[in-house]
Amino acid sequence: ARHLLGIEPLHPTEITTLLDLAESYVDLNRRTVKHSDALEGMTQINMFFENSTRTQSSFELAGKRLGADVMNMSMQTSSVKKGETLIDTALTLNAMHPDLLVVRHSASGAVDLLAQKVNCAVINAGDGRHEHPTQALLDALTIRRAKGRLHRLTVAICGDIAHSRVARSNLLLLGKMESRLRLIGPATLMPAGARDWGCEVYEDMREGLRGADVVMMLRLQRERMDGGFIPSEREYYHRWGLDAEKLALAADDAIVMHPGPMNRGVEIDGTIADDINRSVIQDQVEMGVAVRMAAMDLLARNLRAERGSRASEAL
Ligand code: CP
Repeated sequence: ARHLLGIEPLHPTEITTLLDLAESYVDLNRRTVKHSDALEGMTQINMFFENSTRTQSSFELAGKRLGADVMNMSMQTSSVKKGETLIDTALTLNAMHPDLLVVRHSASGAVDLLAQKVNCAVINAGDGRHEHPTQALLDALTIRRAKGRLHRLTVAICGDIAHSRVARSNLLLLGKMESRLRLIGPATLMPAGARDWGCEVYEDMREGLRGADVVMMLRLQRERMDGGFIPSEREYYHRWGLDAEKLALAADDAIVMHPGPMNRGVEIDGTIADDINRSVIQDQVEMGVAVRMAAMDLLARNLRAERGSRASEAL
């Protein structure tokens, strides 16, 4: 494929290929990622219309470790502030002939739309509440490394499911890899139709966590909430915050995940987040660089093949 816009169109074998390549970028001894020249001579532009710490920095690091020229567009100081549209901004950058555009936007579907207008590879770094494919891939790699497999695992995703692109991409990916999925959260933050997605749905967190192998916590995404009932942070923590007592109901060797940013004392107790025997939150960040290297490496190979075949057709 030319782009990575979501998990939805990926075949399980493509997911496994990408995870295996990402694994090859992890140096077990130094717990860092190896360098390569897969993007040598290529230009990568990061366009983040929404805030980011982990995704933007790891895409930048990943591009540099693969030898690309990496440019971070500062959208806060760009001409978007003067009213230039997303598409005009993208077409302007496209005229500078980048090879890869990494895009985050608050509107669901914005990255797909942009991908139709440019002639380089586009990676979705999170669009609205739609998809965040590289997050799901790095979560999958983290789970696979911790548990040795992705199939026949009980994965509980807890919190604000309705507004979460992370939940959506994870559901798609883990469903394709035959994990058993549970969604836990207040009814007001559960998408309509969640029960039709082939997962179990729980409002009672204690019930939902029972025997889970993986506990994935999500934050309340207030920036995407437009009214509706939201419990107070205190009540939320009491009913849906992960503390030691609730975690004790999961499997003895259950791992705790969180995509970040984390709100300690709201959806997760800080001690659990920092417990290196249970929490793999820092591993998720580390795997983010390797997964993004693998995604860009594969897209660059496809791009080179596409350009090669076009050049031979022209001869
Ligand atoms: N998980 C994630 O997307 O984090 P950032 O918003 O910091 O990139």
